[in-house]
Amino acid sequence: MKTIIEPFRIKVVEPIRMTTPEYREAALRKASFNVFFLKSQDVLIDLLTDSGTGAMSSDQWAGVMRGDESYAGSPSFHRFRDRLREMTGFEHILPTHQGRASERLLFELIGGKGKVVPNNTHFDTTRANVEHSGAEAVDLVVPEGKDPRSRHPFKGNMNIDALRRLIERVGPERIPCVMCTVTNNSGGGQPVSLANLREIRAVCDKHGLPFVLDACRFAENAYFIKLREPGQQGRPVKDIVRDMFDLADGATISAKKDGLVNIGGVLLLRDEQLSRRAGDLLILTEGYVTYGGLAGRDLEAMAQGYEEVLQEDYLAYRIRCVEYIGEKLLAHGIQIVEPPGGHAIYIDAKAFCPHIQVEHFPAQALVCALYRHAGIRAVEIGSVMFGGEGHKPPAMELVRLAVPRRVYTQSHMDYVIEAIAEVYGKRREIRGLRIVRAPKVLRHFTACFEEV
Ligand code: F0G
Repeated sequence: MKTIIEPFRIKVVEPIRMTTPEYREAALRKASFNVFFLKSQDVLIDLLTDSGTGAMSSDQWAGVMRGDESYAGSPSFHRFRDRLREMTGFEHILPTHQGRASERLLFELIGGKGKVVPNNTHFDTTRANVEHSGAEAVDLVVPEGKDPRSRHPFKGNMNIDALRRLIERVGPERIPCVMCTVTNNSGGGQPVSLANLREIRAVCDKHGLPFVLDACRFAENAYFIKLREPGQQGRPVKDIVRDMFDLADGATISAKKDGLVNIGGVLLLRDEQLSRRAGDLLILTEGYVTYGGLAGRDLEAMAQGYEEVLQEDYLAYRIRCVEYIGEKLLAHGIQIVEPPGGHAIYIDAKAFCPHIQVEHFPAQALVCALYRHAGIRAVEIGSVMFGGEGHKPPAMELVRLAVPRRVYTQSHMDYVIEAIAEVYGKRREIRGLRIVRAPKVLRHFTACFEEV
C-alpha cells in the first residue's frame, strides 16, 4: 500500500473554534499585524512552531501519573537517565527545562570573549547564548544550503573546507567546540549526513577539538539518513541515532521537538569534570541535578517520548506528512525551500509576493494574509526576524509552516494547502507592511506594524 496513515488513534480531542474572515480581520488589526499577539483560540491551524506543541501518547500520560516528585533521586529521573544512556551511549546526563538552558550552561563554561564557535547554522537561541558569553558564532553550511531550489539530499551539511579554513585562520585554541545542528532548523529543517558528521569528527580529532551536536531533531535527521544516504537503507533508525551520538563529545537538546513533550531539555557531556561543573550551574539557576527545573512527571514523559520517537512507522508518517504539504504547494507553483525539511515547510515569500519590496516585509505580509484568509498561523523568517539597525537583510524572506507532532490530520493539511493556493491566486492583493514600533533585539516577537 502506498498510503501512509497516521500511526495512532485519537483518544482525546481539543476543539478548534471556527472564525469568520471579519472576525480574523479585527483580531489581526488588534494584534498590530503581528501573529505573536493573537490569542491562540483565534487560530484555526497553528503552525507557529513544532516546539512543545506535540501531542503526548497514552503511555506518556500514564508516565505523568507515575511521576515521582521527590526533590532528589526520584525514580522518574533514573528512568529518564537510563533511557538517554541507552539511546545515546552518553554517561553524563543532565535534565534542563528546555534547549536554551542547556546552551546557556555549556557556553557559560566553554564560551567567552575571543572564542569562536562554528556551526552549520546556529539557531537563534544558540547564537544568542554563544554571543552572550562573549564568543563569536560562525555559520558554515554548504552553499547548497542557501539555495532554495537546490535538491541536494543533505543541505544541512557543514562546509568542511570552510571549517578547516576557519580553524587555520583563528587557531584551534580559540575554538571551544565545533557544533552541528541536526536537522538544520534555520536552514530549512534540512538534514546532515552521517558522512558529513564523520568528516567534522575527523577535523576535530586533527585539532583536538570537542564536537557538540545541537540534537533537537536528531530522530528526524536519522530517518533522512536512512532514506537518502548510500549504505544506510537497511539499518534500524536507532542504530543510526547511536552512530550520530557516538561521534560527539556533547549535545544540547530541546526535548520539545523529538522528545515528544511540551517542556524539557537535556545536556549530554562525555567529560565528567565538565558535566559536574554544568551540574553546579544547573543547581544555581534551574534546580537539582536529578530534575533540572522540571517536575518528575516531565522526566517520565521524556523517557517515554524518546522511546516512541524512534518507532519507524512514526518517523515515516512524520517525514511524509511534511513532504506531502511541500509537494502539493510546489504543484500549485508555489516556491518553497526544496526539498521539504523534516519539521516544516518554508515558503519563499519573495517569489510569492514579487510586488512587495523587502523593506515592506513580504514574508510578514504573507503571514498576515494566511491568517486573514484561513486562520492559519505561520511565522516570518526574514527581514523582521533578522533585520533592523546595523543588520543587512537576510538572503531569503521565508514563511515557516512548522508542523506540530501527532496533532493535525491529513485533512487539516489539505485545508492548509488549499488556503495557501487560494491566497496565491490573489497574491497581488497582499499589501506590504511598515514597522510602527519595535524593540532593538528579537523584534519579531513584539514589533507592531501597519499596512502601506
Ligand atoms: N536549537 C534548535 C535547532 C531549535 O530549533 C531550538 C528551538 C532550540 C535550539 C532551543 O530550544 O526552545 O527548547 O529552548 N526552536 C523552536 C522553533 C523555538 O520554533 O524552532 P528551546
